[in-house]
Amino acid sequence: MSDLNVPVLECRALAKTYQDGKLFVDVFRCINLAIAAKEQVAIIGPSGSGKSTLLHLLGGLDKPTEGTVCINGTDIYALSEKKRSQLRNRTLGFVYQLHHLLPEFSVLENVCLPLLLQEKTIIEAEHQATELLAKVGLAKRLGHKVSELSGGERQRTAIARALVTKPSCLLADEPTGNLDQQTANGVYETMLELNRDVGTSLVIVTHDLQLAKKMDRILTIQDGEVFH
Ligand SMILES: Nc1ncnc2c1ncn2[C@@H]1O[C@H](COP(=O)(O)OP(=O)(O)OP(=O)(O)O)[C@@H](O)[C@H]1O
Ligand SMILES: [Mg+2]
Repeated sequence: MSDLNVPVLECRALAKTYQDGKLFVDVFRCINLAIAAKEQVAIIGPSGSGKSTLLHLLGGLDKPTEGTVCINGTDIYALSEKKRSQLRNRTLGFVYQLHHLLPEFSVLENVCLPLLLQEKTIIEAEHQATELLAKVGLAKRLGHKVSELSGGERQRTAIARALVTKPSCLLADEPTGNLDQQTANGVYETMLELNRDVGTSLVIVTHDLQLAKKMDRILTIQDGEVFH
């Protein structure tokens, strides 16, 4: 069980430098932040400021150059890769800027996968996945291959996949970026519902200021720093 006093996600003195041959890109040098249980946080900032980099580090997908990231109090980069991915699968949902779905598998199969990795039964996985896919408006696309979906339908499939495990925290990188306003609002409502009903914390990178303003807190990332 997660302790409400321990942040769901916390980073301390986080630094990231990308190195490509002799070229170094210092994205940020020292970021400290904590996301509380049930909190809704928007991350905004110009293109190239490091929003996706920060989300990847917080989600255990890339190693920081310096500093620590804790999920529910556990230092994730001190864990083995296997343990880290187990913890990630159990506690986080991730919506990537590029969605990383399995194109040759069906919508339903893609959304069932995280539950099957948690050793849920197929019946249980299909039940939960179907329910969530209906919420994001894909009830009629369950058997479709991902490669046959529109861009917005893929995006909604990716969102359903991230939410289906009812994670402690959802990390979403411009989840509604290429959706029309009405569909985007529906997707956003689904996230808020999970926040309300399950207590999932939301960390959402967005260029949509309207959406950002509806969250509890906005963090701005600019020139390698986070402004609270
Ligand atoms: N693998 C990489 N190797 C080298 N540099 C990288 C790599 N990934 C990102 N960068 C650089 O790091 C900086 C931050 O990139 P990042 O993708 O985090 O920005 P962002 O804020 O998400 O931008 P956008 O709003 O365009 O998605 C950019 O200058 C980018 O060019
Ligand atoms: Mg990005």
